[in-house]
Amino acid sequence: MAHLKALALPVLVSMLIFMSTNVEAREFVVGGKENSWQVPSSPSQLNQWAQSNRFKVGDVLIFKYEKNADSVLEATEEDYASCNTTKPLKEYKDGDTKLKLERSGPYYFISGAEGRCQKGQKLEVVVMSEKHSRGGASAPTEAPAPEPRAGNSAAGLHGGVWIVLAGLGSWIVGLLMA
Ligand SMILES: *[C@@H]1O[C@H](CO)[C@@H](O)[C@H](O)[C@H]1NC(C)=O
Repeated sequence: MAHLKALALPVLVSMLIFMSTNVEAREFVVGGKENSWQVPSSPSQLNQWAQSNRFKVGDVLIFKYEKNADSVLEATEEDYASCNTTKPLKEYKDGDTKLKLERSGPYYFISGAEGRCQKGQKLEVVVMSEKHSRGGASAPTEAPAPEPRAGNSAAGLHGGVWIVLAGLGSWIVGLLMA
């Protein structure tokens, strides 16, 4: 029994590390600093920022900008490429937009203000698949198409993981108390 007890603490610690790295939602201020959602000084600046980060499902993007002068449009890849603002997938204009990345794959954002997307106020964010974010080492090599049903199965999987963790946790606590 003693050797089991000696094992319990390291297992508990590694469980806590596992949980904190996977559950923690990280917040990213777009562009790396406040008020970066504006026409950048060089056209690819926002995407350079995006490429220097690794985004996971559950992470939050924060767009800060002048409330009545600008907006954030979530766009299709095509509308992103052509800076077409007529039919955005979603539109945000509150000046402090917090946007949770709910799925893996690419997200496209363009400015809703006249002419700004053409000047480089646009952003492509690629969210890593669960597989990649678990491994942590490899960047996405290709952008998977959006999968509407992926969210549900991922949530189911997550639930399963939690049940296993809860079981393990109570077993360890039992060992430590014995
Ligand atoms: C912009 O998108 C709308 C709706 O998808 C389309 O009708 C229009 O032709 C597009 N405009 C340009 C300039 O591509």
